Amino acid sequence: MSEQRAHPYRVDPDRLAGAADEPLFRAVAEEARVHGIPAFAIGGYVRDRLIDRPCKDIDFVVEGDGIAFAQAVARRLNAGQVHVFKNFGTAMFRWQDMDIEFVGARRESYRRDSRKPQVEPGTIRDDQERRDFTINALAISLEPGSVGALVDPFGGLLDLGQGIIRTPLDPDTTFSDDPLRMLRAVRFATQLGFTIDPICFSSIKRNAARLEIISAERIHTELNKIIAAPKPSIGFILLLESGLLEHFLPEMIELLGAEEKDGIGHKDNFYHTIQVLDNVAGQSDDLWLRWAAILHDIAKPRTKRFEAGHGWTFHGHEDKGARMVPGIFRRLKLPLDNKMRKVQNLVALHLRPIALTKEEVSDSAIRRLLFDAGDDLEALMVLCKADITSKNEKKKKRYLSNYELVMRKLAEVEEKDRIRNFQPPVTGEDIMAAFGIPPSRPIGDIKTTIKEAILDGRIRNDRAQAWELMKEEGAKLGLELKPGFEVPPPDR
Ligand code: CTP
Repeated sequence: MSEQRAHPYRVDPDRLAGAADEPLFRAVAEEARVHGIPAFAIGGYVRDRLIDRPCKDIDFVVEGDGIAFAQAVARRLNAGQVHVFKNFGTAMFRWQDMDIEFVGARRESYRRDSRKPQVEPGTIRDDQERRDFTINALAISLEPGSVGALVDPFGGLLDLGQGIIRTPLDPDTTFSDDPLRMLRAVRFATQLGFTIDPICFSSIKRNAARLEIISAERIHTELNKIIAAPKPSIGFILLLESGLLEHFLPEMIELLGAEEKDGIGHKDNFYHTIQVLDNVAGQSDDLWLRWAAILHDIAKPRTKRFEAGHGWTFHGHEDKGARMVPGIFRRLKLPLDNKMRKVQNLVALHLRPIALTKEEVSDSAIRRLLFDAGDDLEALMVLCKADITSKNEKKKKRYLSNYELVMRKLAEVEEKDRIRNFQPPVTGEDIMAAFGIPPSRPIGDIKTTIKEAILDGRIRNDRAQAWELMKEEGAKLGLELKPGFEVPPPDR
């Protein structure tokens, strides 16, 4: 991606002024002086401070034993417990709401087949050059004589000002040290609105397949950060163009392209999808709703048909798409709990509100949507609105006002019938007690009949009416009502 983007951050080196007088930095500088060990604040904290972005982690590098140094600083600050990670040579503690981490400067060499580094002690420069990007390799000196000075051997300050993601070393080397960094390049470009340097981007294209050695957890952590950015489409276009996307979400590549037959085309579902994602991102920070936007049309390529005289159809893509969600989540090691179920539910239901705008809406259809959407209703409505990507302003306006109508109707019916978070007005225990029967098939059948009757509007969602229906259904099944159960017992 050589095209330079305007980014919203202004770099100001004066933001480092005063650092030397802050208690944490004073304590580190004091330890550095007493023990004659060069120490530096480094990485994301320095980057974020220069562009005035909030940051809660501060990393320090010392040219010596990072663990012993951390313990000395923690004592000086009266900080809490120091957690030591011997294998990594790091130690961390919390101080005033911040995570403070220390590590000894290292030279690392990696073998091509593994991320496991061979580590030797090194200088601050060794440490900086093995970091991912110049903007992440900036350091603040806490060495006697230069406390508070920026240490910037790779032009990170300039890159930060110009909004450029560039590696300190030859990108092939930096990415082969840790291929996840290719995804991190896209993540920082998306979060910060920066541009990936063209040489760096070419290297990503060349090395994209190296993502294979990276765990699904590390991949989804970066991916989720891209999705959580203000304009995630920037990231997805970069993922597509770099060749990274096909290695972890190939289903999205299938969305690409607009076929034409008999002069009839359909929209490019990849670009439609990322537009929907941006639209959702403008309305909600909910990561799982954003995932639903990504996956809402995921089964379109697999359900696509051309029907002569009618055009392109994607019948059933919402159900097939919902069925694809668990496989995708499992592969990416994303949670398989209610978060995944929410994504599935939203994908499955994303056409329902549209269907409700097309015809005279019955209360029963509204009740069924309320029942099926439950707690996901607001998210569903955000998704459906976001799904309107028509360029035709008139059409768009009409769709949106139809939505307002459906929303009002949903609110009215819910107010009256309380269908969301539906709790059966007659429970399985009620049915067992009323007919004196053990757990068995008729109980489920009677409960379903009652639920259907409520959703269809044949009875109200209340206990008295449900009880009458239970009696009728029981009689049909040859069940005998126990004495005293003609009306529902009050003590539920
Ligand atoms: N780093 C690296 N290669 C990686 C991961 C991290 O070189 N694969 C370095 C970078 O210098 C980075 C620092 O370690 O700045 C801390 O990493 P991390 O906490 O993941 O990123 P931050 O830059 O702090 O950004 P954020 O907090 O937004 O994740």
